[in-house]
Amino acid sequence: MEGKTVRESISEYSELALPNDANGLGNVLGGKVMHLVDLAGAMAAIRHARTPVVTASVDSLHFIHPVHIGELIVLRSSVNRVFRTSMEVGVKVETENLLTGKKLHTCSAYLTFVAVDRAGKSQQVVPVIPETDEEKRRYRDAGDRREYRLAMRMRVKE
Ligand SMILES: CC(C)(COP(=O)(O)OP(=O)(O)OC[C@H]1O[C@@H](n2cnc3c(N)ncnc32)[C@H](O)[C@@H]1OP(=O)(O)O)[C@@H](O)C(=O)NCCC(=O)NCCS
Repeated sequence: MEGKTVRESISEYSELALPNDANGLGNVLGGKVMHLVDLAGAMAAIRHARTPVVTASVDSLHFIHPVHIGELIVLRSSVNRVFRTSMEVGVKVETENLLTGKKLHTCSAYLTFVAVDRAGKSQQVVPVIPETDEEKRRYRDAGDRREYRLAMRMRVKE
């Protein structure tokens, strides 16, 4: 199976934080950001696999800064590694204050998507080819994360 480079599926998704996304403090709900992380991750996974995908798991998510209403939420995603039918995708979330231009790193997450056919059966995915040093590091680290993730999955299934 011929591979595809990471840069072929790098994706970016932006959304303005609006009042209906707010919690009681007037900041964006964490669940709203989680939803956007899932969407942005799926975009890179689908671009790479060119098939529908389902979210198999999301690694832990730590919010470093709140997102304020009126700020732009910018999500960047890329495929770190393909295993057989599953892919690890990394998503980085930043906010931009459009009035000042100040940018803050809100959170990052690793998600695993599985490529499926229309009946929901998992499908093999073409390998990803890391080119830059950073892409090669992410590729290596994704292998360690997978081991931990699959061990956790076994515990959930028990
Ligand atoms: C994810 C899903 C397709 C896996 O199906 P399955 O029958 O367990 O299939 P397999 O055991 O063959 O696993 C398929 C791949 O998923 C990976 N996988 C399964 N569960 C995983 C998990 N929790 N975390 C990471 N990878 C996982 C497997 O390692 C395998 O990867 P590989 O082919 O690259 O080696 C299935 O559990 C599913 O459809 N879950 C629901 C997905 C969904 O609806 N998400 C949205 C929730 S609202």
